[in-house]
This record gives sequence, structure tokens and C-alpha cells, in this order.
Amino acid sequence: MEKIFLIDDDEGLIHFLSRFFERKGYEVKTCLSGLDAVEIIQREAFDLILLDYKMPEANGIDILTKIKASQVKTPVILMTAYGSTYIAIEAMKRGAYDYLVKPFERKELSRIVSEALQVNRQMKEVISFPDAEQPDQSLPTSNELQIIGTSRKMQDVYKLIGQIAESDVSVMITGESGTGKELVARAIYHHSSRKEKPFIAINCAAIPENLFESELFGYERGAFTGAERTHIGKIERCNGGTCFLDEIADMSLNTQAKLLRVLQEGELERLGGSQTIKVHVRVIAASNKDMDVEVQQGRFRADLFWRLKIITIQLPPLRERAEDILLLADYFLSRFRREYDKSVHYFSEEAREKLKSYSWPGNVRELENAIRRAILITTGDFISEDHFILSSQEEGKPLSHLNREQLLDRLRNKLDAIIPDILRLSEDNIHANIIEMVEDTLIQRALKQCGNNQVHAAKLLGISRNTLRHHLKKMEEKSMFS
Ligand SMILES: Nc1ncnc2c1ncn2[C@@H]1O[C@H](COP(=O)(O)OP(=O)(O)OP(=O)(O)O)[C@@H](O)[C@H]1O
Ligand SMILES: [Mg+2]
Repeated sequence: MEKIFLIDDDEGLIHFLSRFFERKGYEVKTCLSGLDAVEIIQREAFDLILLDYKMPEANGIDILTKIKASQVKTPVILMTAYGSTYIAIEAMKRGAYDYLVKPFERKELSRIVSEALQVNRQMKEVISFPDAEQPDQSLPTSNELQIIGTSRKMQDVYKLIGQIAESDVSVMITGESGTGKELVARAIYHHSSRKEKPFIAINCAAIPENLFESELFGYERGAFTGAERTHIGKIERCNGGTCFLDEIADMSLNTQAKLLRVLQEGELERLGGSQTIKVHVRVIAASNKDMDVEVQQGRFRADLFWRLKIITIQLPPLRERAEDILLLADYFLSRFRREYDKSVHYFSEEAREKLKSYSWPGNVRELENAIRRAILITTGDFISEDHFILSSQEEGKPLSHLNREQLLDRLRNKLDAIIPDILRLSEDNIHANIIEMVEDTLIQRALKQCGNNQVHAAKLLGISRNTLRHHLKKMEEKSMFS
């Protein structure tokens, strides 16, 4: 359970925050005095600290300095009163993760807290890789993540990681989807000289274009309507540390120009700001696209590409290192057996054959999901070949020959395979979002099947026509705002 430490002399606020976080399933510790807080920090580790800037006996900056001295990776969110935001920004230069201006809204609190906790998880999770000279691995016994594989191609990857991790050069990681680009990026961070500094991962494809620049470079208060406070961008927040830019091919040309400036001059300006800010970040970029083609077709700046690809790590698809498949399978078996508390101990001979002979178009991610699913559905102590539903074998095949139970079973398996990952995102409203998505899909499909006849679709779904109409209206509104 993740542990949050709340430091504030305002009893009312402490009470509200404790309940807020406890309800969300976090362990909470509170402290009303700055001096006591300093003592607690020396002996107890936390995943997140919320600190009031203005405390009677000790000021926020002093406490922050002490926190950073004893638990450097724990994100600290500073709470400050309106009118003193410059202090908070000052504090961010000394390692605070972010700030909240009192009084703040629950929504903002949730957003900042879940983002900070995710960063905390990524920074603290150690990812190891084998020694390139002695790649033979015994399976890990702890919960530590490991890069698995003894194939020649993976040994070359380990060697390269070992050679470049400690330096400050930019790294470009390429490879098909699911080959382990993110894992490698995080391993590089953990073995770099910047491992005590922030690590921030940004998925360039996941954030809408118009928000992306402000996420990356920040903005000044009043830069645009709705910019109510100065926002420190991810690059500035990551100063001194490592910034992982995933799916970099999706970055707009405009943002690419600004990123190049960060790399070349170590400079940026927040949106709407005139002050030039000095930053020094190490960039690790990843893409599953062919970057040469992106450059040729003018979607990616050649000068930025040259700058990023000084060191390129090319991750091989799983089918080109088939000797690693069973090693990976055993690794996932031991991890998920623990995670789901199941006593599944081995793969049948046929299961092993099936794993080895499949082409794994979705690479390690597909293998990982196949094993997770197999572990969840098996009732015995081993996994047989029938426990694997491999996507490309399934593709194009109609499922209409299956009976109701079998179809529902398929659906359950698919959900089982993906929902744990969604839960790991620990975002707000996960329950509502997933239910809504399932419902939307169901309704759209039913309508299609009934040639858009609402009366028939409602009947097919067993709901009233009014309910269907109401839902369609909601879907329409959503699509207008998205
Ligand atoms: N060599 C490996 N050893 C152990 N686990 C691995 C390895 N490679 C990948 N994985 C696991 O497979 C999953 C997919 O890996 P990752 O997210 O790093 O892929 P990716 O290349 O970034 O994919 P995408 O392009 O789709 O983002 C992760 O859960 C990761 O932990
Ligand atoms: Mg990835």
C-alpha cells in the first residue's frame, strides 16, 4: 500500500486530506508540527509527501531540504497560500515535485497526486539487466523487474546499455511494439549517474497536440484563458535528470524545434513567458516507427534526429530471438504466480512447443499477456497449450461456432488480460470509464447490427428505447467535447 505523509498545522485540512486519501486506499500519516515532521522523515520512508509551506516552527524550504537529503526520490508537493506562488516555484528548483495553491479543488489534488505517485513508482522500481559477458540468468526471486534474454542480440543490447548508461548522451531506442523499449529506457536511467535525479516519462502520442507543448514546457499565469497559475513543465521539472520521450515520432514539428533548443542550448521559455530558463536534461527517446522514413517525409526534423540518435539501441523482435521465448515464459510464470497467488508450476511439453513455434507479432508484451491470461484461467498446477489463445491464430476466424458460455469466457479472458494494466495506471474514475466504454461499444455494435434501427437495437439489448436514446445523446455530447 502506498504511503502518504501529510504535514500541515491546519487540523481541518489534515482531517479532510486524510479521509480523502484513506478512501482512495492509501496509508496516511499526518503531522501537525514541522519539527516533528523532520524527525519522522529521518526514520520512515514515504511514497509521497504533502507539505504546507508555512509552518510555525520550521519553514517549508527547510523541511524540503531535509526530505531531499534523506529520501531524495520521494516526490514532495508543496501547499501554499494564494499570493505566495513564487515561493513554490522557488521550491521546485530545490526538488519539490509540484505545488498546490490553497484552497485547491479535489480534482486538481487528485491529478497532481496520482501523477506524482506514478513518477515515484517509476523512479523507485529498479530494473536490472544481465552482465553482457555472463548473460546466464537465474530467475529473479524478488519483485524486481529484470530484462530477460540470453540471445546474442540481447547480449549486444546489454553491452550497449552498460557502455552508455553512465554518460550523459542522448539515446534513441527503436524496435517494434512490445519489444521492451520502455523497459530499456528505465534500465538506462537506473544505471546512470543521474539515478538520484528525477526521471519523467512522457508519451508524445498520448497527449493532445494543443496541450502537449504546455505539458512539456509549462506556462505562465495568464498565458491563455484558463491558465490560472504558473505551471512548471515536465522538462523543467526534470532538470538535472532524465526525460524519457516515448513515441517521439508523434511530436509536432513546432515542439521538435523547441526540444532541439533544449538539447543544444539548454534553454526554454514557458508558454507566455519572456524569461529564458536554463535546463539540463538527458533525453532518452523511443519510437516504433522507422525514423529514417519520418525524416525523409518531412515529419521529423533531421537535425533533431541526428542529435538524438548519437547512440541508437535497436531492440530485436521476439521472433528473431526465439531462444529467449521460454526463458521469458518462465520469468512471467514466476512473476504472475506470485502476483495472483496461484500454484501453477510449469508448462506442459505441448504448451512449450506452441510458445516456441508462434511468431509473436506483439512481441514480449503479447507473450506476457498470453501467460497472464493462461495463469488466470488454469485450474490445475500447470499450463497446457489449450490455455493460450494467440491473437494471430484467432484473427479472421469467426467465433460464431462458439456457444454462449464459450463466448463469454473469451470476453472474460480478454478483459482479464488487459484490466490489470489499466488498474496499474491508477487514474481517477477507472470504474466509471471502463463501464462507460463497454456500454458504448455494446450500443454501437447493436445499432450497426440492426441497421441503425433504434427500436430493434433496444429490443436486442433488452433495454427501453428511452434508455437507448438517452445513452446516444450522452455519446454524442462526449464526441463533441473530445
Ligand atoms: N526482455 C524483457 N524481459 C522482461 N520483460 C520484458 C522484456 N521486454 C519487454 N518486457 C515486458 O513487455 C512489456 C512491453 O514492454 P515495453 O512496454 O517496454 O515495450 P515497448 O517497446 O515500449 O512497446 P510499445 O512500442 O508498444 O510502447 C512490458 O511489460 C515489459 O516489462
Ligand atoms: Mg512503449
